[in-house]
Amino acid sequence: MSNKVRKAVFPAAGLGTRFLPATKSSPKEMLPLVDKPLIQYSVEEAVASGIESILIITGRDKAAIENHFDISFELEEVLKEKGKIEMFDLVRSISDIAQISYTRQKQALGLGHAIYQAKDFAGSEPFAVLLADDIVDAEKPALLQMIEVFEKYDAPVIATMQVEGEAISRFGVIDAEEIEPNVFRIRDMVEKPAFAEAPSDLAIIGRYIFTPDIFAAIEQTSPGSGGEIQITDAMRLLLKDRPFYAVKLDGKRHDAGDKLGFLIATVEFALKREDLGYDFREYLKSLKLDSQQTMHN
Ligand code: G1P
Repeated sequence: MSNKVRKAVFPAAGLGTRFLPATKSSPKEMLPLVDKPLIQYSVEEAVASGIESILIITGRDKAAIENHFDISFELEEVLKEKGKIEMFDLVRSISDIAQISYTRQKQALGLGHAIYQAKDFAGSEPFAVLLADDIVDAEKPALLQMIEVFEKYDAPVIATMQVEGEAISRFGVIDAEEIEPNVFRIRDMVEKPAFAEAPSDLAIIGRYIFTPDIFAAIEQTSPGSGGEIQITDAMRLLLKDRPFYAVKLDGKRHDAGDKLGFLIATVEFALKREDLGYDFREYLKSLKLDSQQTMHN
């Protein structure tokens, strides 16, 4: 069995209820951070980490994702005719990015259930899972940081970061021992614990590298937190039989599926842009913000 992580799975069937009404009929994965849809950021991260083949798990009302990664014939023709070569190249590069296939999760029964839809796609190979809501702004792609640990220890790897205070109960949380700087061996994990019961301040971030034995573990997993089949519970089962590792990512994670997180990510990404950063910074500086926080022009 090859140890190389060539495949990646993107669960994208969720209803996006945290971002209504924008997500009523449009996929949340297509919300733009500045000018690029969320899912394209993590697809680019995967490709920059060596991923060759991608499976996106979609659901109803997600056709915009497939169209985004397909050739846009009419648009390309118009851009060519008008001599807009840079824009043509930009549009074309999106459909050339990787080998992408799609499958549908017919019911939203949880992240574990969504990942289970990738069983045939993964076959006998290890594979990565990326949640497009979690944008990791990092010099070395987050998934690549994890692949290096996967190759070293030859065991599944998840991403983690420290979360202060009560916010920890919005995440899966690990109990783990640091075995080298920023690399942990996991002892236990729990999905969305009450603050008082969280085993540590180390939250699970939406990046995973699994081996195919995760599928048998998902089969044995009953509905957990929120009545859903949780991937954290399946990992917990598998943890009885094999070691599991976590990497504290070097980078900044944004929860772009949350309204405030999305706004913060938008501001930070816009400020970094060569074409927009200067003007946007000047605009932000001109705002008269006070602690009462109603903005007046
Ligand atoms: C999922 C996982 C959770 C993880 C989180 C990271 O939760 O179930 O363990 O901490 O992603 O973003 P969700 O945010 O989909 O409820």
